[in-house]
Amino acid sequence: MLDKIRQLSAVPGDISSDEERDLLALEARYCSYGDTVHYTEVPKIFERCEGSFIYDGTGTPFLDLQMWYSAVNFGYANPRLNNALKRQIDTLPQVASQYLHREKIELAAMIGQDFERKFGSKGRVHFNVGGAQAVEDSLKLVRNASNGKSLMFAFEGGYHGRTLGASAITSSYRYRRRYGHFGDRAHFVQFPYHFRGPKGMSKEEYGHFCVQQFARLFETEYHGVWDPKTRQAEFAAFYVETIQVTGGYVVPPMNFFRELKKVLDDYGILLVVDDIQMGFFRTGKLWSIEHFGVTPDVIVFGKALTNGLNPLSGVWAREELINPEVFPAGSTHSTFNANPMGTAVALEAMKMMAETDYETMVMEKGRYLLAGLQELKRRYKVVGDVDGLGLALRMEICEPHDSFTPSKAIVDRMVDEGLKGNIEVDGSKYGLVLDIGGYHKNVVTLAPNLHITKHEMDLSLKLLDRVLHRVSKT
Ligand SMILES: Cc1ncc(COP(=O)(O)O)c(C=O)c1O
Repeated sequence: MLDKIRQLSAVPGDISSDEERDLLALEARYCSYGDTVHYTEVPKIFERCEGSFIYDGTGTPFLDLQMWYSAVNFGYANPRLNNALKRQIDTLPQVASQYLHREKIELAAMIGQDFERKFGSKGRVHFNVGGAQAVEDSLKLVRNASNGKSLMFAFEGGYHGRTLGASAITSSYRYRRRYGHFGDRAHFVQFPYHFRGPKGMSKEEYGHFCVQQFARLFETEYHGVWDPKTRQAEFAAFYVETIQVTGGYVVPPMNFFRELKKVLDDYGILLVVDDIQMGFFRTGKLWSIEHFGVTPDVIVFGKALTNGLNPLSGVWAREELINPEVFPAGSTHSTFNANPMGTAVALEAMKMMAETDYETMVMEKGRYLLAGLQELKRRYKVVGDVDGLGLALRMEICEPHDSFTPSKAIVDRMVDEGLKGNIEVDGSKYGLVLDIGGYHKNVVTLAPNLHITKHEMDLSLKLLDRVLHRVSKT
């Protein structure tokens, strides 16, 4: 049977063992290709993980600079968080979500109290499974608060997930193309992506310019979004990522969200922050919007809340938007929402974040790595831009003749070279896990373990150096 499958599915590339070959043949025959596994020609199988490393079947350590799209902020197999999960499995591993358990209540209270302290806003939390589902819940909240308005603003380059509702506010048409329209797609607004913005403007000037362009929509009813007579906008909310994620870890200028929020307040439009990837200290703050001095109406979170151990996500909203009168029992529900395994590990993660000075640690490490990336930019013409906030870092790869024309081909080769697992540093062989983002799919988006050591940061820079050397040669 296996032989037959092997014949049916030709698996290209260098496969290290018969067992791996068999597994890949089964995968090719029985797994849907609809996820992102087949973005690479030969899918990679990993077997074990610890700290900043993930290991393949040959035992080769791959230094992971993307940490499951920032779902594993606190390191693979983090002992404290793993133990929280093990404790829960021995006490209350399962309970239907129509009943309560201590961990859910304490977790919601910790998040709610953090918002009260930092933003002076009272609110509530609703949990769900997966980022896109929490985005869907947030859409219900903002539609409900605006008497059913279904139109949203979102950014060019923005990403909010791939359910039908979330992909309607995600910029890429690619995610909608095959499925028709289920809900209204967002009106997409320019984000201050300075490296590819108009020349001759500072980062701040460009941020200001983008806000002015947006504000222009409200100058007259004939720009299509605002009725000055009733002072009503046709749009309920603006969905933002503070740092654009799939857009290529684009960091906006610090004035940007303050200026944008002023326009939103002037025209009664809610601000929804999607912190699914940038939350939980990826940028050096628990909530990335804390860097920008504005208070959101809604925040959506997921991924690193459980360090990737359980697909728990959630939405926090101001009391006016989510109190039991406006969002009564049964407004939204999923069998696994607020499940005890997820909430137990999330509660432990929140306690760990409260007890540890992640802010200082992440900002220091971010500065160190960014300095290393700047050095690589000086040495390699294919590196057009580097930037970052905390440990969300970017390296934009370009054609060497002008260090500006985007090169998806070179970045694809970098990813492939990293996955070969044959990069030699100080007498040992390593692999490197890189991920690609960007408007032109030419940006290496770097999200290392927040616990990465100095030695591992130096190793990261050496591995990036070797990979850049390989792709620059040919
Ligand atoms: C900013 C942002 N929003 C939404 C999502 C969707 O989350 P999920 O993949 O858990 O549905 C992601 C996932 O990458 C994300 O990065």
